[in-house]
Amino acid sequence: MQWGDEAKGKLVDLLTQHHDIVARFLGGANAGHTVVDGENVYKLHHIPSGILRSEVLNVITAGVVINPPILLGEMDGLTDRGVPIDNLRLSDRSHIIFPWHIAEDRAMNQGTADGENIGTTLRGIGPCYRDKVGRSYAIRLGDMMRPNFKDKVFMICDKKNRTIASMYEDGSFEPLDAAKIYDEFAAYAERLRPFVCDSTDLLLNAVDDHKTILFEGAQGALLDVDHGTYPFVTSSNSSGVGASAGAGVPAKHIDQVIGVAKAYSTRVGGGPFPTELNDETGEKIRIRGNEFGTTTGRPRRTGWFDAVAVRYTARVSGIDVLSLMMLDVLSTFDELKICVAYELDGEQITRFPSHVDDIRKVKPVYETLPGWQEEITGARSMDDLPENALAYVRRIEELVGFPVGVVSVGPDRKQTIFTSDVLKLATT
Ligand code: GDP
Ligand code: IMO
Ligand code: MG
Repeated sequence: MQWGDEAKGKLVDLLTQHHDIVARFLGGANAGHTVVDGENVYKLHHIPSGILRSEVLNVITAGVVINPPILLGEMDGLTDRGVPIDNLRLSDRSHIIFPWHIAEDRAMNQGTADGENIGTTLRGIGPCYRDKVGRSYAIRLGDMMRPNFKDKVFMICDKKNRTIASMYEDGSFEPLDAAKIYDEFAAYAERLRPFVCDSTDLLLNAVDDHKTILFEGAQGALLDVDHGTYPFVTSSNSSGVGASAGAGVPAKHIDQVIGVAKAYSTRVGGGPFPTELNDETGEKIRIRGNEFGTTTGRPRRTGWFDAVAVRYTARVSGIDVLSLMMLDVLSTFDELKICVAYELDGEQITRFPSHVDDIRKVKPVYETLPGWQEEITGARSMDDLPENALAYVRRIEELVGFPVGVVSVGPDRKQTIFTSDVLKLATT
């Protein structure tokens, strides 16, 4: 619901057992999801967080951009740890990230027309999606298994070498070797071949057969390329509206949408962040929440819960229920603040502004709530929560306008409270 890293990996893993299929619908290796099962910690970038349950099919759909060496590394890592991956499927429509995309990401990230850097994950995500939409220089997974794959690599590499050289004004760009790239990626293609399918057909058939599908997001709704804090966003539709387009399943088949939100707020990379705390309180949240990037290791920027932003993304995503994660991180604070409105040019608004300059300008209007001192990582029902923690959850429900169906009080599967029957569709 905010800028990602809100523990959706944990929630997807928990809900997987109640589904036949988990389908990741966007992004690529820019994501970093963490799943904790007792002593076992799994960091996943590409593979859906449902992979730990062998009876559930895990599908990477058309909307995802695949980085083959990272994906294969993840597959090998899981196999080495005894996690079967024969339940993984990859869409032949997924676009492939090549070394030129990473070189372009590096060059473009050094300065945007906006004057502030986006601070991407440098995984080639934006350039790959740009080529997808541009069409002429794109290669999909299905193309890697066709006879003209080699010609495509040579043609595109030649064009890219010329354009990328001009992007590196200091002349530091070393031309890419098409033959080497082809050999490397042809070998990846052979290893990926057994997993490749027409995922759109697979999912539409699953719908016809009344199977249950869990659509797994990545990034965060405020990073949505159309509805987020543009241009400080990722390059796909990372709010709920993206599920249908990325997976190829009409929205009318989606019965329930769960919005995953941290009990506070974080952001990695550049861009406006109205409730950011550049002080000791922000540092305390960073330390208690271990807020360092799963993908890049960067310290995450931290701030108070922003009910204006979450109400907006909850509505854009069409959520039915909120899953409030990492509430335990907020224990031991004397008081907690929630942003209930913005002040923009002397006026109070509760609308999330559409232009980045206005989002930069807004001043949060805060409501202060009393904190609680006790640790809550052992809580297993709402009754176990201190009164002030419960009041904090209820106030978020009121301000965002949707019920909280899950409260997470620690990284482990067990540290989860299902608060009501609002998740009945997901869990029956
Ligand atoms: P994702 O990208 O949304 O899956 O989230 P990340 O994995 O990037 O970051 C979330 C981090 O918080 C991970 O290290 C999780 O193991 C951890 N985590 C998940 N739920 C909780 C929780 O309720 N409390 C705490 N303290 N940590 C959690
Ligand atoms: P998960 O799924 C947090 C951010 C980057 C950068 C912007 C654009 O783990 O929540 P990109 O490499 O996508 O072009 O970077 O988006 N970003 C994320 N921030 N969590 C993520 O994924 C992110 N994926 C991208 O930091 O600001
Ligand atoms: Mg993450």
